[in-house]
Amino acid sequence: MQDWLKTEPIVLTGGRGSILYSADGRRFLDANSSIWTNLHGHRNAVIDAAIRRQLKQVAHTSSLGFASGPASELAADLIDLARGPKTQPRLTKVFFSDDGSTAIEAALKLASEYSRRAGISRKPRFLSLTGAYHGDTVGAVSVGHIDLFHRIWKPLLFPTDSVMAPACYRCPFNRAKPERADARTYRKCSWECVSKVEAKFAKATRAGRPYTALVVEPSLQGAAGMIPQPEGWLSKVAEITRGHKALLIADEVMTGFGRTGTGSVSGPHFHTFAAQHEGVVPDLVAVAKGLTGGYLPMAATFATQPIFDSFLGEYSDFKTFFHGHSYSGNQLGAAAALANLSLLRNPIGVDHRRSLQKAFAHQLNSLWTQPYIGDIRLCGLVAGIELVRDWRTRTPFDLTDRVGIRVCEAMARRGVLTRPIGNVLVLMPPYCTTSSQVHQMVAAVVGAITEVLGKL
Ligand SMILES: Cc1ncc(COP(=O)(O)O)c(C=O)c1O
Repeated sequence: MQDWLKTEPIVLTGGRGSILYSADGRRFLDANSSIWTNLHGHRNAVIDAAIRRQLKQVAHTSSLGFASGPASELAADLIDLARGPKTQPRLTKVFFSDDGSTAIEAALKLASEYSRRAGISRKPRFLSLTGAYHGDTVGAVSVGHIDLFHRIWKPLLFPTDSVMAPACYRCPFNRAKPERADARTYRKCSWECVSKVEAKFAKATRAGRPYTALVVEPSLQGAAGMIPQPEGWLSKVAEITRGHKALLIADEVMTGFGRTGTGSVSGPHFHTFAAQHEGVVPDLVAVAKGLTGGYLPMAATFATQPIFDSFLGEYSDFKTFFHGHSYSGNQLGAAAALANLSLLRNPIGVDHRRSLQKAFAHQLNSLWTQPYIGDIRLCGLVAGIELVRDWRTRTPFDLTDRVGIRVCEAMARRGVLTRPIGNVLVLMPPYCTTSSQVHQMVAAVVGAITEVLGKL
């Protein structure tokens, strides 16, 4: 915070597509989609018009005891997208809230109470991954395992367990020497990360204290440093979770709405959520960030019918879900989200995303020649570029050297805005980004690294 006070911030006043404008007349590429939220660019004509249309009706009405057209339509659309082609919906109910953290809070409460009522676990017990980040409210922090962010809040938290997350580049079980390629592709291991999950569940079940739920960010862990899972990890872990009668909570706050790629489904179909890449349908899913295309704060928690039904009863049973937000189902947000989903489904947009993914992967590939880049972790339209002192030994820079921050500052001087996670540079372009803009982002990474680290 002290550093923030010492510097003059870039004051952002406008945007169009992937470009942002500052008060002093500069233009920048929005290379992290305004903290992972924006999908179709700024001032998108379709979303702008949807919000204007909705404003002529009403901006917000209560969802506590009342319904609204936009929120109901949005829930139906989300259920349809979560279902995937040709399958019956398993997630049939949607609870609206305000941001990623509240969507996770709702999922944790729903899981806890469902599990108790269904006689699965009397006391809620959650398992999540090392390096997990699920938001900043107290429940979300309780299932988070990033020491730097979470340790100081410990007195406020409820206890949860953690289990090894797959992280091939720095995995102690990966016997392969570093190569100039994604560590997932050349790793030498025996899926020890999956065995650890199995062992953790087995121990809890044996002790008569089974887990209520496993909470995961499917496909890749964001705030941990954009760490993708090797293909197959999620489906194996989902099977273990089911085998122990625990619920699977997928945190798709960052990964949802096509961020991790359109997937292998051909034609107009595409994967909306990361878990769909492995054919996994969780019991609860939290979404936010991209839900409104990065326009308005809105979130949703999807649940299965049995979870919903466990909150039904006679009035005098008081079984309702005692949890609600003033802005739940906000009509402006829902109108923006409906427009966002229509853009996501547009076949021309799907094609553009497919070719952008290819251009993104191709451009990033050129970075392997950079000596201070140890790993390039690519997942759809998300990339984590890890800066290291020596790629041959994976020796990291000390966090106090502020290498990630300094490189991002140098990128900003080259007209590209993003925010690092420690020594990891994040590139996450809006879907409307052109391949020449991707080229500009990657060129800024090279120039900034040379400026900051070239003198080492
Ligand atoms: C995976 C994940 N879950 C939850 C959150 C919390 O979302 P919000 O900042 O909207 O509360 C984030 C935010 O970065 C996230 O990346």
